[in-house]
Amino acid sequence: MAIPGPSNIPDRVLRAMSHPMTDIYEGSLVDVSDRILEELPVLAGTEGKAFIIIGNGHAAWQMAIDNTMSAGDKVLVCESGPFAVIWGYMAEKSGVDVEVLPGSTREPVDVDALQSRLAADTDHEIKAVLCVQTDTASSVRNDIPAMRRAIDAAGHPAMFMVDCIASLGCERFEMDAWGVDLTVGASQKGLMVPPGLGFVWAGDRALAAYETAGLRSGYTEWADRMNPSAHYEIYAGTPPVSHLFAMVEALDMISEEGGLPAIWTRHEMLASAVWAAVDAWAAPDAIEFNITDAASRSTAVTTILTGSVDAGRLRRTARYQAGLTLGRGLGDFVDRAFRIGHMGHGDAPSILGTLATVEACLLAMGAPLGGSGIEAATTAIGGYLR
Ligand SMILES: Cc1ncc(COP(=O)(O)O)c(C=O)c1O
Repeated sequence: MAIPGPSNIPDRVLRAMSHPMTDIYEGSLVDVSDRILEELPVLAGTEGKAFIIIGNGHAAWQMAIDNTMSAGDKVLVCESGPFAVIWGYMAEKSGVDVEVLPGSTREPVDVDALQSRLAADTDHEIKAVLCVQTDTASSVRNDIPAMRRAIDAAGHPAMFMVDCIASLGCERFEMDAWGVDLTVGASQKGLMVPPGLGFVWAGDRALAAYETAGLRSGYTEWADRMNPSAHYEIYAGTPPVSHLFAMVEALDMISEEGGLPAIWTRHEMLASAVWAAVDAWAAPDAIEFNITDAASRSTAVTTILTGSVDAGRLRRTARYQAGLTLGRGLGDFVDRAFRIGHMGHGDAPSILGTLATVEACLLAMGAPLGGSGIEAATTAIGGYLR
């Protein structure tokens, strides 16, 4: 399976989930939960406060908005594909005034446009800038430090909120060092745990915004989660027992591999194989990168445009004849793109098998190819082996 989330779950994480139900007031579950909450800030590179919400990425988006915004507050959503915009729709439904900074689905957020828009907001009506680090549909990676510099250059006090749902555990991300005020994540991609845990990391400015946030409400509210009188209040009710045992196993795997730097390097290796293959396959009106600038490509997912090649047929051939599930094009990309997820639990055999299978399907379809991607991909992987 090579879809960009939910990603493949390692066997040992699946086995950890089969832990019997246990006392939720004391003992192993509480130990595991404490350890996760202690280690989550490290994952995001922050000394801020981490919150877990039982739910998917949307739940984490909702928690972020509810606890930092009031009805009528304005946020600037930076478009670079659909995902930040969908976060904006959700905020709008909660009563937030959303402005979209228009962007391309083939390029990262334009930092000059961001700076100009913020500089024009002389009354500082914009309370927060929202973006994704990686847009999973377009596979762009935004330059988060450059966006921070643009906010600073405009002299604007807006909070900076970043969705790392597709990138956490795949790409370098340093919340505090990069001046991010709030980060959103989820369990089902780079973190190798099934969908069901959403994460929000709040820095000092987000926690200060919480003090006056008018949208704070029942389930997503930080109050009891921050100062629980009983452990289960961290989860606003019964903890997600199986997911917590899974999460702690995934954290063990990350640390056994050598921690985040080792994980980031492995993802660079996987991405380099995909990019080398796509470069070799590329041909006019056929296979082509969606993100042409290599420096702006995500190391977690690659979106490949297919021109005259029928992307639906490619996916069906791969899935039903060759046993490989590829990601479909989303939004603007339906039917004219496919995506390869290389996030989370991947290695050289899995990515080389994926690429070779895609190539076999393209050949079977008679797709025009610039060349074979296999040698290019193996050479790329070889560059990482010692
Ligand atoms: C970048 C990004 N943000 C947010 C989401 C929404 O997460 P969920 O589908 O878990 O609600 C996704 C889902 O794929 C995503 O890729």
